[in-house]
Amino acid sequence: MAQGTLEIVIPGRPAKCSIFLGDHISRQFPVALLNEATSIAIVSDEVVARLYSGQLRQLFSKTKTTHIITIRHGERSKTLATASRIASRMSDLGLDRKSVLIALGGGVVGDLTGFVASIFKRGINYVQIPTTLLAQVDSSIGGKCGVDADWGKNQIGTFYQPICVFIDTSFLDTLPEHEVVNGLAEIVKSSIIANSSMFEKIESRTSDFFSIPELKSLIPSTVGIKSKVVETDEREANVRRILNYGHTIGHAIESSSDYSLSHGKSVVLGMMCEGWIACQSGIFDRKDFARQQSVLSKIRARYKIKTDFESRKVLRFVTLDKKNTAGIVRMSVPERIGKMDTGTDGNFTVSVSREQILQSLNWLRSGGN
Ligand SMILES: NC(=O)c1ccc[n+]([C@@H]2O[C@H](COP(=O)([O-])OP(=O)(O)OC[C@H]3O[C@@H](n4cnc5c(N)ncnc54)[C@H](O)[C@@H]3O)[C@@H](O)[C@H]2O)c1
Repeated sequence: MAQGTLEIVIPGRPAKCSIFLGDHISRQFPVALLNEATSIAIVSDEVVARLYSGQLRQLFSKTKTTHIITIRHGERSKTLATASRIASRMSDLGLDRKSVLIALGGGVVGDLTGFVASIFKRGINYVQIPTTLLAQVDSSIGGKCGVDADWGKNQIGTFYQPICVFIDTSFLDTLPEHEVVNGLAEIVKSSIIANSSMFEKIESRTSDFFSIPELKSLIPSTVGIKSKVVETDEREANVRRILNYGHTIGHAIESSSDYSLSHGKSVVLGMMCEGWIACQSGIFDRKDFARQQSVLSKIRARYKIKTDFESRKVLRFVTLDKKNTAGIVRMSVPERIGKMDTGTDGNFTVSVSREQILQSLNWLRSGGN
C-alpha cells in the first residue's frame, strides 16, 4: 500500500472500513463520514490529549458538537472499570445511537474505545486515529477490541470494525524512542510472517538507528499485510492466527508482570521464546531464527530479562490463550522468514507442551543466546 487510501472489505458485511494513510494529513480528515453523526466524542489518554486533541476538536467542532473524554495513559487503564466510566460519561454528555466515538491514541485507547463503541446502546460508529507506531501498523486495523481482566489479557472483547482508520504519520514525531522500538518490533513480526523482502530491507541496514522518515516508509507495507489478512479471515478462524506470532507467550509474560512490561517488549520476548521453540522442534529454519534474533538486536529490542516475571505464572496465563483447544496450548510459528507454518490441520497453529514453554523461558532468562 502506498500513501493514500485502502479499504477493508469483509465478505458478507455491507459496510467497508476505509484506511487513510499519509503524513501531515489531519486537516484532510474526511469529515463527510461524520455527516450523519449527532455528536462526537474524542477518547484519548492524557498524554495524547495534551498533544493533539485540541487540533482535532477544532476540526470536528466546525460541524458537530465535539466532546473530549480523557483516560489515564498505560495498559492498566484497559479495564472494564475504565470502559464503564467512559460509557457513563458518554451518557452524561447526552451521546445517542448516532453519536460517533473517535479513538485518538495508542493501542490502549484504540482497544478500549472500540470496545465501548461496540456495547454503548448496543453499538455506535467509531473511528480509529492511531498515534503510536504500534497502533498505526497493527492495533487500529482489524476490529479487535477489548479490555484486560484480572484473570488475563484481552479476555473480554468483541470484533467490531471502525468506520474508518485515519493514520497521520506526523503524530510519530513526538513518540518516545522506546515506543518507536515497540512499533518496529511489530513491523519485524509482520515481515517474518508475510514479507521476506521487507525483512531483508530492515536486515540490510548498516546503522541501528532508524530515522523518522525511514520508519514512515515501512508503515504502508505493514498496514497492507494486516489489512489483507483481516479481509481474508476477520474472526480468526484460521489465517488471522499468524498475526499472533510472539503473542501467546508475549501476552502471558505481559500479564504475569502485572503490566510493568510493555506490550511491545513482551511481544519481543514472546517472539524469542516461540521462535526458539519452533527452532528446537525443527519447524523454524535455524538460520532464519538467528536472522530474527539479529534483526531484533538491530532495532534495539533484544531484551535481557531475569526477574520481571515468574515462569509458573506465565504458564498459567498461557493456558488461557484464546487459540487453545481442549486444554492444548497452540501457537502460530514461522517455518522460515516470510512464511508461517500452516500446522498439521491447516489451522496455522502447532501444539506446544508446557515443558517446552518452561524450557524457552529458562533459555530466555539465561540470556537467550
Ligand atoms: N486490537 C489489536 O488488534 C491489537 C494489536 C496489537 C496490540 N494491541 C493492544 O495495543 C496496546 C499497546 O498499544 P501501544 O503500544 O500503542 O500502547 P499505549 O496505547 O499504551 O501507548 C504507549 C504510550 O505512548 C503514549 N503516546 C501515544 N501516542 C503518542 C504520541 N504521538 N506522542 C507521544 N506519546 C504518545 C501514550 O500516552 C502511552 O503512554 C496493548 O493493550 C495491546 O494489547 C491491540
